[in-house]
Amino acid sequence: MRLTTHTLRSGTGTPVVLLHAFPLDARMWAEMAALLPAGTPVIAVDLPGMGASPLPDTLAPASTPSSDITPSSDTAPSLDTAADAVAALWTEGGPLDRPAVVAGLSMGGYVALALAERHPELIAALALLDTKAVADTSEAAAHRRRIADEAEHTDSVDPVRPMVNTLLGESTRATRPDLVAQVADWIEDQRPAGIAWSQRAMAARADRTLVLRSWNRPSLVLVGAEDGPTPPEQATAMAAELGTEPVIVPAAGHLTALESPLIVAEALSALLARL
Ligand code: MLT
Repeated sequence: MRLTTHTLRSGTGTPVVLLHAFPLDARMWAEMAALLPAGTPVIAVDLPGMGASPLPDTLAPASTPSSDITPSSDTAPSLDTAADAVAALWTEGGPLDRPAVVAGLSMGGYVALALAERHPELIAALALLDTKAVADTSEAAAHRRRIADEAEHTDSVDPVRPMVNTLLGESTRATRPDLVAQVADWIEDQRPAGIAWSQRAMAARADRTLVLRSWNRPSLVLVGAEDGPTPPEQATAMAAELGTEPVIVPAAGHLTALESPLIVAEALSALLARL
């Protein structure tokens, strides 16, 4: 079984692949995708265990990475497994047949970086939104594992429900009750097992700063000025590794694509124009 994908736009240009934040799914991209240039095919992916995608032990075996990197095992939760599952979208029967602009927001950015390391030939340009390249501290990883355990033991989204307050920026929370309610509903829709798997996979992720240092194709780093989970300093650090400057989105928090879809679409359109 493959990851579930959603074709948000059709066309014949360079495709855009969108990888969502945690604990959400591909629905977070709809408004932004509608603002991308006409003729751009846009595929939004539900990452493993999130949205309508299966949990990793029911995914097809991971495809073989292009370099000497070890193929991922699907026994321990790993973003390498997620990246290999995304790479399978380019294999026979998948929706993609040429390199794409791969844009990941937060957890989606971690997966995009794993994809860039493991399957760089699939990426025409890399967009890292509200994310970071560094690994978790041991304390942060332990916290994620406690959240995973709690999601399983309570068989609920209880431990991640409060995230609506940290994902959205202060300005959005003060002025957009509709968006707050929307994000809360999307969190409510997720499966506890998918939340647990994703948290354990993020806890185990590697530092991917070196992927940035060696990246030699077009890239974009963008962050909300009010992003708490991955603050602008993280974006500045990633952009420095890529030899570029971050785009800072005013009055937006961690979910820039939802909070300021037009600015994100303009930045991605500029990236597409560089190809
Ligand atoms: C996300 O938005 O994907 C999460 O905040 C990522 C994380 O927990 O590090």
